[in-house]
Amino acid sequence: MTDTAPTKTLWLGRWGFVLAATGSSVGLGNIWKFPYMTGEYGGGAFVLVYLLCIAAIGVPVMMAEIALGRRGRGSPVDAIRRVARESGRSGLWSAFGWMAMLCGFMVLSFYVVVAGWSVSYLWKAVTGGLQADSVDGMAAIFTQNNANPWNLGFWSTLVTIATMAIVGKGVQAGIERSVRWMMPGLVVMLAIMIVYALFSGGFGAGFHFLFAFDPQKLTGPAVLAAMGHAFFTLSLASGAILTYGAYLPAQQSIGRTTLTVALCDTLVALMAGLAIFPVIFANGMDPASGPGLIFMSLPLAFAQMPFGGVVEVVFFLMLAVAALTSAISMIEATVAWLNQSHGIARRRAAWGVGIVLWLVSTLAMLSFNVGADWTLAGKTVFDWLDFLTSRLMMPLGGLGTALLAGFVLRREVVREELGLPSGAFALWQFVIRYVSPLAILVVFLDALGWLGAGFDLRWVAAILLVALIGEIALGRATQRQAS
Ligand code: TRP
Repeated sequence: MTDTAPTKTLWLGRWGFVLAATGSSVGLGNIWKFPYMTGEYGGGAFVLVYLLCIAAIGVPVMMAEIALGRRGRGSPVDAIRRVARESGRSGLWSAFGWMAMLCGFMVLSFYVVVAGWSVSYLWKAVTGGLQADSVDGMAAIFTQNNANPWNLGFWSTLVTIATMAIVGKGVQAGIERSVRWMMPGLVVMLAIMIVYALFSGGFGAGFHFLFAFDPQKLTGPAVLAAMGHAFFTLSLASGAILTYGAYLPAQQSIGRTTLTVALCDTLVALMAGLAIFPVIFANGMDPASGPGLIFMSLPLAFAQMPFGGVVEVVFFLMLAVAALTSAISMIEATVAWLNQSHGIARRRAAWGVGIVLWLVSTLAMLSFNVGADWTLAGKTVFDWLDFLTSRLMMPLGGLGTALLAGFVLRREVVREELGLPSGAFALWQFVIRYVSPLAILVVFLDALGWLGAGFDLRWVAAILLVALIGEIALGRATQRQAS
């Protein structure tokens, strides 16, 4: 295959990348998944581990991904091939680019279904369709919403069309322009939600639930779930951040932008928790009610509260906006690849990908009605897409990113791209070489069920210690050689 030229497209505004990447990372993961996972895994202890994972694994891997994108200036496939060759390595490393691109596509094909729930609930909230007097009643509404494939398909199709329309318009006129008003809008809506929660009467209980640390609740599954979620919530290993990084101007600091994005993502997740749990507690509901938390418990809580109807509209609008800014990032890699490597006009590429996406997402959508028993090993199409991406492809992709940035590329290349002072660079390099790969490997093996009951996370700590000592000794030896 002939080499393609590096892309020349750059974000227009100073905040272009930060807004778009924050838009990518802030999504259903923050507002839907994080609260219910926190509920299921018992609150504060889970939150603490999650924060540690973001800082220790998420941030370094995100820096690596942005660096790969910016150095390679292209879609994941082209960018990785280019940077690997630049360091005198095989272009076959771009296999990780292929996997990332496929992963983003697969995530989107089930993400539009959940995003479709959000938009349909927005519609129900506006038209007064969320009336029930028990959680069971709300569950019935949820089931009914899923039961008719034409109804559910309508909403996911709507999300698909909106996503493709934005991406088809281009990086600056489509993506950047839309996030420039959607992200501030999101913050305003979240602020409204929190003020409301403050007056709900359950704020103290919600706050305590999120931040009270109970070491007893720190179980193995909670730790593994927190690590996996750190990847998902930051949109890592699926081509989104890498492709956005390809448009990052050379003078912007990768370290600083990454910290900003990770901080915003974390703040939104915590704020979503602070907005949701008080309302749940104020109405005496169970925080551990799983994926239905915001679609069943929350609407019921709103129904019992003053101004609940209005706030409900704000909530589901916020959810829809957050989902849309994430959706566009998942497909940008594929569209950029068709555009750059195959010279297909962006608009045409977007609609072409959109049609394929629509077909796959329809299969995922049917998992909730007519295709509920099209299962393989007990998993529906929807479950498989989720499992393959979140539990296998994302960890593998993260591992690839870490290996590429830590070992495959020449040290000077990475160093130059990151522009960190030498102490910070050494720390980053240690993390990306040993901490991240090990953590990822553990999550991966656990997903496959290969860790067994006797597994102890202390093994990981021991291996890291050996690596640290080895690295320091090796560093000394090379220094001595050099002098
Ligand atoms: N990070 C988003 C969220 O929290 C989801 C997301 C966006 C994503 N882009 C992604 C997940 C790419 C995986 C891969 O909802």
